[in-house]
Amino acid sequence: MPGDSAKGFFGRVRPWQWIKHSVFTQYLWIWAMKVGSPPQAKTIWVIDAFAGAGEFTDTETGETAAGSPLQAALIAKKYNELPKKVAAGKELRLICIERDPDHCAALKERLKGFDFVEVLEGEFGEHADAIVAKIGTDRALVLLDPIGLKSIDAVTCKKLLHRNGKTDAFVNVQFAVVHRTRGQMLPDGEPDPDVQGSAANVRNIDAFFGTEAWRKIALSGMSLREQEAAWLQLYYDEVVGWRYSCKHHYPVKRTFDGKPKYYLVHIADHPDADWLINNLLASVESRLFVVSRERENPGSLTGFADEEDRVRVEDLKRALGKAAIELIGTQPSRAMQFGQLCLALRPEFFGKLKETDYSKAIKALIEKEQLVREKKGLHPALKPDEVISLPPV
Ligand SMILES: C[S@@+](CC[C@H](N)C(=O)[O-])C[C@H]1O[C@@H](n2cnc3c(N)ncnc32)[C@H](O)[C@@H]1O
Repeated sequence: MPGDSAKGFFGRVRPWQWIKHSVFTQYLWIWAMKVGSPPQAKTIWVIDAFAGAGEFTDTETGETAAGSPLQAALIAKKYNELPKKVAAGKELRLICIERDPDHCAALKERLKGFDFVEVLEGEFGEHADAIVAKIGTDRALVLLDPIGLKSIDAVTCKKLLHRNGKTDAFVNVQFAVVHRTRGQMLPDGEPDPDVQGSAANVRNIDAFFGTEAWRKIALSGMSLREQEAAWLQLYYDEVVGWRYSCKHHYPVKRTFDGKPKYYLVHIADHPDADWLINNLLASVESRLFVVSRERENPGSLTGFADEEDRVRVEDLKRALGKAAIELIGTQPSRAMQFGQLCLALRPEFFGKLKETDYSKAIKALIEKEQLVREKKGLHPALKPDEVISLPPV
């Protein structure tokens, strides 16, 4: 949202906001139930470092919608009230940071009934060290949702991401400002002295990536999408680092066929996180598809867009089945374990098909005798170590 002031942002409810909120809040509940289950996990934390005012108001309809801190607080309340958590003295706590004094005051007012929430006024960078010290080695889920990239410099982000405790994070990464800054550089990558503000803009982007290497990508002549892919990889390499096994980005768009408005970057370092985020994103894709089709065809019959979505997903499952047959055919044994097969196909279908769709697609091929499984029949669930093979020739 470069160019928007924070005040303008909260004057409207933006249609693509629900994607971020939907993914974040669904993830938060599943994450909390998982990481909060070991006996030693007494306190787990959510850090909403660019928390906002806690609520949006749609200026056209006057309707209000809960922002990320309020949604997180409601989930934390539900978690903290579970009898098992109460009995074990466990708690999900929420720390919010907000720079704008008006937003911060509004947020404090909205969250005043929740005694497990702290709202800190000021800059993310000002509070990062104290938060890291406070949460120690407890598990934490971090949301970095600034406007632009200036406030999420690599040095501050690394304090949270590289702390001595397991961290999951969502980062809202917007490249519009990087594209704009590209036009303010000379061919050697130095800021153009004839463009006012270019040196500061280039420095801000250097600080976001923690390196000047983004400049070379910006001047490489790659397409915009290729540049964005290269910048995301640079961000993973330079800021997120090797310790996180799970690094994904979802291009959040206004409509199903639209251009990415921002990337919702998700990072975690436990293997279940990949399938979890994959499944949430596949649900979001379906919802975005249905909403987009309904908006494009306002007079269409009820349920028509849902049916179109069902056909879209069936096509994807068929494509996955075709890719599975091709991949198994490249193996010397003409066979693969189901788990390996899914992991090999996942990058191509990431965020498009849910984990359950993989077994449905493979079972459909077993039924048609295009693939063979070890167990008899279609009923037993496919387990990761079950071998799937091509029929004997
Ligand atoms: C995109 S909004 C947050 C929306 C919120 N996460 C939600 O989904 O409801 C970004 C907020 O970050 C605040 N902000 C901007 N820079 C900041 C910084 N350096 N430290 C803390 N807050 C900042 C802005 O005032 C604004 O309220």
